[in-house]
Amino acid sequence: MKPIRKVVIPVAGLGTRVLPATKSIPKELLPVVDRPLIDYVVDEARDAGIENFILVTGRGKGAIEDYFDHAYELEATLKEKSKTKILADVEKTIPTAGAVSYTRQQAPLGLGHAVWCARELIGDEPFAVSLPDEIVSHRPGFLRQMVDAYEKVGGNLVAVEEVPQEDTSKYGVIAPKSRDGNLIEMTGMVEKPAPADAPSNFRIIGRYVLQPDIFKLLENQGKGAGGEIQLTDSMNSLNEQQAFHACICEGGIYDCGSKLGWLQANVALGLKNKELSGDFSDYIRSQMK
Ligand code: G1P
Repeated sequence: MKPIRKVVIPVAGLGTRVLPATKSIPKELLPVVDRPLIDYVVDEARDAGIENFILVTGRGKGAIEDYFDHAYELEATLKEKSKTKILADVEKTIPTAGAVSYTRQQAPLGLGHAVWCARELIGDEPFAVSLPDEIVSHRPGFLRQMVDAYEKVGGNLVAVEEVPQEDTSKYGVIAPKSRDGNLIEMTGMVEKPAPADAPSNFRIIGRYVLQPDIFKLLENQGKGAGGEIQLTDSMNSLNEQQAFHACICEGGIYDCGSKLGWLQANVALGLKNKELSGDFSDYIRSQMK
């Protein structure tokens, strides 16, 4: 079984649900507590043993590349002023040279198309996909839990969680066949079904482990929900050919692509932050009175 060494992180989206915050900055750089979203997702992948980070970017996303690079003036100034702790925090954001690669999605044709844009950088090996809108507060993170499951069952995996039936039209939804602990075998999956047509209330979370055979399917994938090339539609076809499991991971996930989810993430992670949790929890309590 080939190990999962690479993750595709699509970062070309416009962030329309959190406008105007994302009018002039990429939504992936929205801060949660003291770090941008993208940093959480890269950290989670690193904890899953992943060494190569492939970002599928688009126009106006250059600031993400700068985030993963040296900021010489800033670093020199911090050094000169002996701000050692802050300097160490800044230096921690810089990955090993060559670990992050970028490819560009030239038109917003959908998530399936964004993943397909990474095919040459992935080659012929299984890989992970992480959508940076969603961040995980739990350790081990969702990708670590999925890679562990992959090492047992192989094939392909998506992370899922239960949502109220009326919310199914916001997500990809699986059709479960049988369940063994936290793993569900599926008969298929469907993108953004109306609640009445949803095959279950298990929605797909933005974490995937996929075999490279997905690329052949994506290449010929027609437009689906919302007029976009949907990853879910090609995964549904792959499910007919190969083992495919949905994984119920332990821990909470925050959808920071929505205003409420972003606020919730800040509160939850702020309360867990070593430096801030004391004062922050006092403040939250004071606001509840
Ligand atoms: C995408 C996927 C969907 C998944 C969701 C998770 O949708 O297409 O299947 O449930 O991410 O965040 P999007 O949020 O891009 O509409």
